[in-house]
Amino acid sequence: MHSFGYRANALLTFALTILALMCAIASFSDNLNHPSPAAQVQVLNINWFQKQPNGNDEVSMTLNISADLQSLFTWNTKQVSMTLNISADLQSLFTWNTKQISLWDGIIPAKENAKFWIHTSNKYRFIDQGSNLRGKEFNLTLHWHVMPKTGKMFANKVVMSGYRLPEEYR
Ligand SMILES: *[C@@H]1O[C@H](CO)[C@@H](O)[C@H](O)[C@H]1NC(C)=O
Ligand SMILES: *[C@@H]1O[C@H](CO)[C@@H](O)[C@H](O)[C@H]1NC(C)=O
Ligand SMILES: *[C@@H]1O[C@H](CO)[C@@H](O)[C@H](O)[C@H]1NC(C)=O
Repeated sequence: MHSFGYRANALLTFALTILALMCAIASFSDNLNHPSPAAQVQVLNINWFQKQPNGNDEVSMTLNISADLQSLFTWNTKQVSMTLNISADLQSLFTWNTKQISLWDGIIPAKENAKFWIHTSNKYRFIDQGSNLRGKEFNLTLHWHVMPKTGKMFANKVVMSGYRLPEEYR
């Protein structure tokens, strides 16, 4: 009467094999995942654009940030963080030791939240020290960092160009 024990053992072995195979497929599919994230930012309004008493130009704008980062999420993704940066071809911005200024950031905790649009004004102040921003072209870059549960973090971005500030203060 060994058949019950034998069968239970065979079943267990089979279950463990399936589990190992599933793990292998999961990590393999993570490597094979070619994400195709998309993002778009519209400048809906320049709320105000002023020269401050100290001579710095400051801009407040309303943005519509829309993105579909669902393809960045796999079984191994903990969260995705995003930063929207602005860059313009200005001498003064370069003296800041950075070519970009952060306007907005956010964290996507799960795949269900990864397709969205948000109507917001710039969360961080956009000030240019000294020079004037009138009529200047600028680019917006949405950067994202994918934080995995295990393994290396990776980052990527989309650059959106062709924006321009108004010619006059308002
Ligand atoms: C923001 O952009 C998304 C996608 O382009 C669009 O569906 C939505 O209506 C826009 N919202 C506003 C307030 O413009
Ligand atoms: C904006 O993007 C365009 C095209 O990608 C690039 O040629 C230009 O140098 C960028 N300008 C700035 C200020 O980053
Ligand atoms: C965005 O701009 C900030 C400066 O405000 C800079 O520290 C940061 O490195 C930029 N992000 C990226 C990914 O370049």
